[in-house]
Amino acid sequence: MKSTQYSEKTLDHFRNPRNVGTLEGDNIAMGRVGNPVCGDLMEIYIQINKETDVIEDIKFKTFGCGSAVATSSMITEIAKGKTIDEALEITRKDVADELDGLPPVKMHCSNLAADALHEAIKNYREGKTADDVDSDPDIKYTLCNINNIPGTNEFLNKGVYLKDINKDELRDKRILVLENGEDSAKLALELEDISGRVILMTMGKQPRIQDELKSELKQSHVKILKQSELMEVLGTNSVEKVKIHDLDEDEEYELFVDAVIII
Ligand code: FES
Repeated sequence: MKSTQYSEKTLDHFRNPRNVGTLEGDNIAMGRVGNPVCGDLMEIYIQINKETDVIEDIKFKTFGCGSAVATSSMITEIAKGKTIDEALEITRKDVADELDGLPPVKMHCSNLAADALHEAIKNYREGKTADDVDSDPDIKYTLCNINNIPGTNEFLNKGVYLKDINKDELRDKRILVLENGEDSAKLALELEDISGRVILMTMGKQPRIQDELKSELKQSHVKILKQSELMEVLGTNSVEKVKIHDLDEDEEYELFVDAVIII
């Protein structure tokens, strides 16, 4: 698919979005995420049956582009009637596939829908109401859910690390840290002590961190990869390489790494 082409299904969901709006009342949770590439926002509301854990109703509201509207509309149709465990399995690729594909340059927009749904389920499980989320000034950015990236579950703890990072195992390895705010940048700087091949990769034009930390990074040997999105983790028994989408050039390429850190 060329970057300018949209499928008929995508256009239909963009022109006639399903389940737009918000929900109020009991057993409602909301997930709100931001897209670090464009700064757009997404909110997904779910109403859950407490007995069965089934998503009985779902709505969305977005400050996103046409692809964000189409992917959210589609995800509401996929998720409605599923249990929350089943809904957690929905990936952005599933959504894009159901829409008969999205232009590669627009794949990042589909993160918003999938991650907002997963965030809503997480908030429900933590007992947070939609009002709690509404009054929280911190915006969560996409990348919070590794289910969205093929290969990350398969290689979990075999090169993909989420927490409990054993630094000795990573000594002298090629390490890719996904930028997800201050902590990820600090970790990249710490890892510099054990490896000279650390990359901090951000989807945005700049990492979303304080200026002080930015200048620390500049003075370090940590390489910053900007406007880049992790598409897939590949390997046989452990991580050998990753597929990266250069959002600026709209090109995909492979990069050899031994470890991918997502915190
Ligand atoms: Fe922001 Fe699509 S460009 S969600």
